[in-house]
Amino acid sequence: MPPNVTLIEHPLARVKLARLRDERTSPREFRRNAQELAVLLAFAATRDLETAAERIRTPLTETDGTKLIRPIVVVPILRAGLGMSEAILPFLGDAAVGHIGMRRDEATHLPTSYYFNAPAQLAEADVLVVDPMLATGHSSADAITKLKYEGAKRIRFICFLAAPEGIAHLCAQHPDVAIFTSAVDERLDERAYIFPGLGDAGDRYFGTLPG
Ligand code: URA
Repeated sequence: MPPNVTLIEHPLARVKLARLRDERTSPREFRRNAQELAVLLAFAATRDLETAAERIRTPLTETDGTKLIRPIVVVPILRAGLGMSEAILPFLGDAAVGHIGMRRDEATHLPTSYYFNAPAQLAEADVLVVDPMLATGHSSADAITKLKYEGAKRIRFICFLAAPEGIAHLCAQHPDVAIFTSAVDERLDERAYIFPGLGDAGDRYFGTLPG
């Protein structure tokens, strides 16, 4: 495993991931487990955010407090990343949110970008890019290239599942980006779906029929 990849194998994460994989899991249960897993992964992915000490007053006295030294920007890759960003935002204070729409061509498996909106504070922020599936790695690598072009310097990528091909591509394109995942699966199938995987994360999260 490349040194910038962290596999989060906490038992609670593994149990939630099993619920996501299970084809019998209803959209309602899928959403709940996806949101909870996103929170567990975000906690692990943010454990070394840089902080500074600050003096604060309790009702009784002065004491030491802690603050983050940089703003946080969360960037879901549409559409499946939306569930992850909504789940983790309540824990991230005044984090700003950017959005990147990537659509993949089902024949070539290559992504095209149809939407990009990044907050102004990108350059000084810790940026969390969220997308449940790191499959070929092309969408995430292209999204991160766009974010860097707009000034982003400190980027972490959080996903539920990664394929070895996706890890290899993302690491080759962006070796400075830390990747956090709850599993690395066997391979991509002929449709470039992660195998054994969990199917189409967006369809399962939003309860839509496969297009
Ligand atoms: N996107 C998904 O939703 N699932 C995959 O397996 C690959 C890409």
